[in-house]
Amino acid sequence: MKIAIMGFGVVGSGVGEVVTKNQEMLIKKCGEPIEIAHILDLRDFPDSEFKCFTKDFNDILNDPEVGVVVETMGGINPAYQFSKSLLLAGKHVVTSNKELVAAHGTELLEIARERNINYLFEASVGGGIPIIRPLFSCLTAGEATDVFGILNGTTNYILTQMFQKGETFENALRAAQQKGYAEADPTADVEGHDTCRKIAILSALAFGDAVVTDRIKTEGISKITAEDVFYAERLGYSIKLIGHATRAVDGGIYAAVFPAFVPKTNPLAGINDVFNGIIVKGDDLGEVMFYGRGAGKLPTANAVVADVVDAIKHKKVNIIIKWNEYKEENQSEGAMQKYPYYVRFKGATVPNISGCRLVTFDEDANKNEFAVISEAMTEKELDEFVKAVEFEGCEALGKLRLIGE
Ligand code: HSE
Repeated sequence: MKIAIMGFGVVGSGVGEVVTKNQEMLIKKCGEPIEIAHILDLRDFPDSEFKCFTKDFNDILNDPEVGVVVETMGGINPAYQFSKSLLLAGKHVVTSNKELVAAHGTELLEIARERNINYLFEASVGGGIPIIRPLFSCLTAGEATDVFGILNGTTNYILTQMFQKGETFENALRAAQQKGYAEADPTADVEGHDTCRKIAILSALAFGDAVVTDRIKTEGISKITAEDVFYAERLGYSIKLIGHATRAVDGGIYAAVFPAFVPKTNPLAGINDVFNGIIVKGDDLGEVMFYGRGAGKLPTANAVVADVVDAIKHKKVNIIIKWNEYKEENQSEGAMQKYPYYVRFKGATVPNISGCRLVTFDEDANKNEFAVISEAMTEKELDEFVKAVEFEGCEALGKLRLIGE
């Protein structure tokens, strides 16, 4: 089988490496050799062992011998146009591009289905962790109630380096970039957009209805302070960037991205560095958890190449991956969703607050501040609670949700 790679960055070059290194084993797995016939990239790679670089997409589109194309370009344009043209031309497309799957997955899956070919995206969520296949295959008997977890390796690495090892944000981010974890623009990691795209994909798979990312409330890790980490430790929590999708009280699907207090008794709390962890909950199922390296060249490339093998094994068979197209009424704003909250206040005296766990800052630090863990409440109830405490002369300095108790 001749394949092509579009985008020879961290993951694309990893695909080249894995296909070359594991050639013998791959023949056993899919019954034929995999030959990389074209690599599309605008950059030059004079030192590469591969000599099949092109800057012209048509070299791939018009090569009748290329049956599977790996899209590791990232971003929407031109990846969307290229993927669509390839699928329309009857070529399988395998991708790690979560932004594209989240934005146009419904349409691209439909084209693949009509053509009896495949659009596969195991590498788009969780790097090397198998999570897409379990969701469309092993866990389909009952509906999920919740999917939540750590979906971004870069931010988990940064949080670990900063708050467990005392590293600065800048150094931790630079190291994550050097290790090939971060997006081309790391703001997508730090501000939660990458997690947002991933939870949109997991949500569609788990609940069967597409959601749109611009209605997923998304908050990153940039506002977390050393004080928040201090309180988390004192109260028995870790702070993690979480993507959460749930069947909402109002019947729609609610998805959100937020840094959260995760109790140390929850396995997500112990997941550090580049590792991701995803918990799927269902009424019949109980809880299952997926864990592994969530970013990085070879783990992600392994997931891509596994999809290539699957496409070769299903040359003329569409592996049905399906969800309903987006309908506004199916996506909930989450107004009735309740979470317990951690709220940090500045105040010389702690007012009488009922129904909350409370901790004051280390007395030696003389900071005149305290934090509370509230009961589960809606965002509106939280605003009212904060206002009531502020009425007592305190000032709210920050708040985070709790998840996983
Ligand atoms: N930037 C992403 C992350 C890459 O750090 O998780 C893997 O999707």
